[in-house]
Amino acid sequence: MLKELLEEKKKLAIIGMGYVGLPIALEFSKDIEVVGFDIDKDLISSLNAGKDPKGETADEEFENKKIIFTTDESDLKNISVFIVAVPTPITKLKSPDLRPLKSASEVIGRNLEKGATIVYESTVYPGCTEEDCVPILSRTSGLEYLKDFNVGYSPERINPGDKVHTLTNTVKIVSADTEQGLEEIAALYEHVIKAGVHKAKSIKVAEAAKIIENTQRDLNIALMNELSIIFDLMDINTHDVIEAAGTKWNFLKFYPGLVGGHCIGVDPYYLTYKSEQLGYKPEIILAGRKVNDNLSKHVVKRILNHFKSNKKIIGETKVLVLGVTFKENVSDIRNSKVIDVIQELQNYNIKIEIYDPYVDKNELSNKYGLQTVESIGTDYDGIIAAVKHDTFKEYSNQKLIDISNDEGILIDIKSMYSNFNGMTYWSL
Ligand SMILES: NC(=O)c1ccc[n+]([C@@H]2O[C@H](COP(=O)([O-])OP(=O)(O)OC[C@H]3O[C@@H](n4cnc5c(N)ncnc54)[C@H](O)[C@@H]3O)[C@@H](O)[C@H]2O)c1
Repeated sequence: MLKELLEEKKKLAIIGMGYVGLPIALEFSKDIEVVGFDIDKDLISSLNAGKDPKGETADEEFENKKIIFTTDESDLKNISVFIVAVPTPITKLKSPDLRPLKSASEVIGRNLEKGATIVYESTVYPGCTEEDCVPILSRTSGLEYLKDFNVGYSPERINPGDKVHTLTNTVKIVSADTEQGLEEIAALYEHVIKAGVHKAKSIKVAEAAKIIENTQRDLNIALMNELSIIFDLMDINTHDVIEAAGTKWNFLKFYPGLVGGHCIGVDPYYLTYKSEQLGYKPEIILAGRKVNDNLSKHVVKRILNHFKSNKKIIGETKVLVLGVTFKENVSDIRNSKVIDVIQELQNYNIKIEIYDPYVDKNELSNKYGLQTVESIGTDYDGIIAAVKHDTFKEYSNQKLIDISNDEGILIDIKSMYSNFNGMTYWSL
């Protein structure tokens, strides 16, 4: 597989040029011919111009690469390996929305040639690759599974905005449907992943491994969020407690926070869905999801209580929201829980000013009808420091005091300003 790619007898195609697909495509295309396929025409024209609209990949990364970006299925010819990195969101009812994965499998099936391998990277529940995707590949290609084509699964661990844990220095899990396939897929990824690969025992094991990485994180944060609600009633700062408890060797330091984005708050539902299909209704995982999904209400309640105890007319208050992306140092607003906080505050007619130098203003406006301010104003009744962007961390005590009015409150969701003093301070 790797040899024929390096000798340019065959090409590698990546389906889905988003946060996951683009970096892996550019990495392989240093010495392998790659076709980067996506259904988003605007995205493809931007990539063809050497620009990543998400701002995650530097312009230089596009230079000297053997890659074409396309929306045209007819470019998917002479492909020996397809890598699938399309979204796996959830529906309004919080069950897996497999439409992108299924339609990507159809595109591949229509263009599949004998001997090819399809490696799925999208996050799915255990069993999805073999039970949901393989039948589509067989049906749309007319080829026979295991005789004419093979599949594998290699979950992605990329962490946008993180310059330390990168694609190539993070061990990648690989799996396949045959022993030979596993060796070939492992060799393919070892070619680009400097940290090496972990060969999972089966495709299902690899699918499950990915889903529990995020489920575990979701639950650990949920526990801290629940503790934070309890400690609030006791007038104890949760971060102070974690710092103290963290001096024991086996205490794991997780921190409370809004759990948004398309991974941690979404992936556990893939697992709970499959579990329920098999007859077991998970309790702990769903309880954790509920706590995390409701945290925005707790934040809003706290700010409203402060306004009430200071005898403010709620509909006449003005709140600054610092950061609206789902996490620090990225432009990504998918499933951002800061939006929930904002919408909740808007229900009380509170005037909101959002300041976020990272966010794509058009996307925020198109998706949520929200505008950002160009610069921070003054006389705020409340400041919600919602996202720990590097630029916000530098704000001084005095700056925050200067932009607030006399009875202002600083709601420090991420405990960015833990040594703050000078006005009412609250953190999770
Ligand atoms: N972003 C992350 O941090 C991250 C990390 C690990 C795993 N994942 C998983 O990887 C997968 C992809 O996530 P992402 O963040 O890269 O998503 P993304 O939304 O950034 O990109 C997905 C791309 O796929 C395209 N697409 C959708 N349907 C398509 C189709 N039928 N054919 C071709 N292209 C199609 C979209 O236009 C989009 O450009 C998801 O399953 C996600 O859960 C993401």
